Amino acid sequence: MSFVAELERHLGVSLITDPDITSTYSRDQAPFASYSPAAAVLLARTTEEISKALAFCSERKIPVVTRGAGSGLSGGANADSKSLVISLEKMNQIIEIDSANQLARVQAGVINLDLDTAVKEFGMAYLPDPASRDWSTLGGNVATNAGGMCCVKYGVTSHHVRALKVVLSSGEVIEVGKATKKFVTTLDLMHLFIGSEGTLGLICEATIQLARAPLESSVMVLGVENFAEIVDVLTCFSRDLDLSAFEFFSQQALDKVVSHRGHTVPFKTETAFYALLEFEHSSPGILDKAMALFEHCVDLGWVVDGVISQSQSQAKNLWKLREDISETLWQWQPYKNDISVRISRMADFLEDVDQLVMEQYPDFEVIWYGHIGDGNLHLNILKPEAFSVDQFHSKCVNVSEEIGQLLAKYEGSVSAEHGVGLLKKDYLHYSRSAVEMDMMRSIKRAFDPNYIMNPGKLFD
Ligand code: MLT
Ligand code: ZN
Repeated sequence: MSFVAELERHLGVSLITDPDITSTYSRDQAPFASYSPAAAVLLARTTEEISKALAFCSERKIPVVTRGAGSGLSGGANADSKSLVISLEKMNQIIEIDSANQLARVQAGVINLDLDTAVKEFGMAYLPDPASRDWSTLGGNVATNAGGMCCVKYGVTSHHVRALKVVLSSGEVIEVGKATKKFVTTLDLMHLFIGSEGTLGLICEATIQLARAPLESSVMVLGVENFAEIVDVLTCFSRDLDLSAFEFFSQQALDKVVSHRGHTVPFKTETAFYALLEFEHSSPGILDKAMALFEHCVDLGWVVDGVISQSQSQAKNLWKLREDISETLWQWQPYKNDISVRISRMADFLEDVDQLVMEQYPDFEVIWYGHIGDGNLHLNILKPEAFSVDQFHSKCVNVSEEIGQLLAKYEGSVSAEHGVGLLKKDYLHYSRSAVEMDMMRSIKRAFDPNYIMNPGKLFD
């Protein structure tokens, strides 16, 4: 590509241009999202280098796609053949751990779990735990405002970011937010960058709020026949216990994970759904309290069977029943929906979606699981063997339109935690008003007048 040699000279470094390599840097995990190998990949090592690269690209209107680890599920990090991909994988230093303020300053390429591990020896933790936490980067987590299994207690990524260092498309470097807890000084620009998926600027450093490390915890898996009753169970447990997770999955999801991974089923009775909940041992009587709540739910007929972990290793094994679902489903090339509605409306919504799929798409198998404590449902449609990938995809696009309409009716969101990227942009209007979309376009123009930062993502 024409700009590559000039940019190499300008930066004094070599770019990656071998298409076998650039293609792996030019997409995330999203199935069905289009991409082509970028013109070049810059493995950035310093903020100054990024600044020079962005100023260069801005002047020549070269599209820039920022990449963390590529763990996204919406095509937000997908590139095309005109783009420069800037990978942050080499910028992976924990710059500072400040125990007194429970803060860490990190480069954007630090892996989520590496930060959590590094702060453990100080009795602290980094708690947002996206399913990809073993390999996703903090920069990517911030850019997508990633969620996870324990958000019900600890919140999503945005609740843990204090400040960001961002390179603007002009090459200018700005600091937004503050390491101090309070700084009420007009507009909060930092939160514009969180969840903006690389469309406003390039996040190269973050100041992260840590927390006291969680206490030992117990995990329960409960068998529930009706989805509405899972919500009753959630309401009942969360009234009396400070839950750190409340997840659910269907019997179909459990069957698939057990046969794929060889895990042990938690108990003999089969039920349509399972709730997995976790609580920390924060007071001496907490286990008795949890057992009393369990018995209360059994007495009311909501819970049919259940198990509580007797050790940390059993707790880990119970978690695997939920955590391994996503990886298990890849073999069916699933079409993923990551949606949210208010907890009180989830049961009706789920029934409406099941009805819709049963009537109009009887060939499709739908697998439900998700972070029900947050109202976040993962609806994966599995590709029937008889369908080609294209046939399957175009039918799923129709389903998504109908689900979008239902979400609008239920005042829900077309994306809960996976972001919008390429895959959900056509449905964004079901969650955000025309006025909001126009305001977002104005903000984009203000930060990125030459339209080079991850163009084509989120909205046109
Ligand atoms: C999960 O909750 O397992 C993740 O969001 C990944 C997925 O939905 O596939
Ligand atoms: Zn999830």
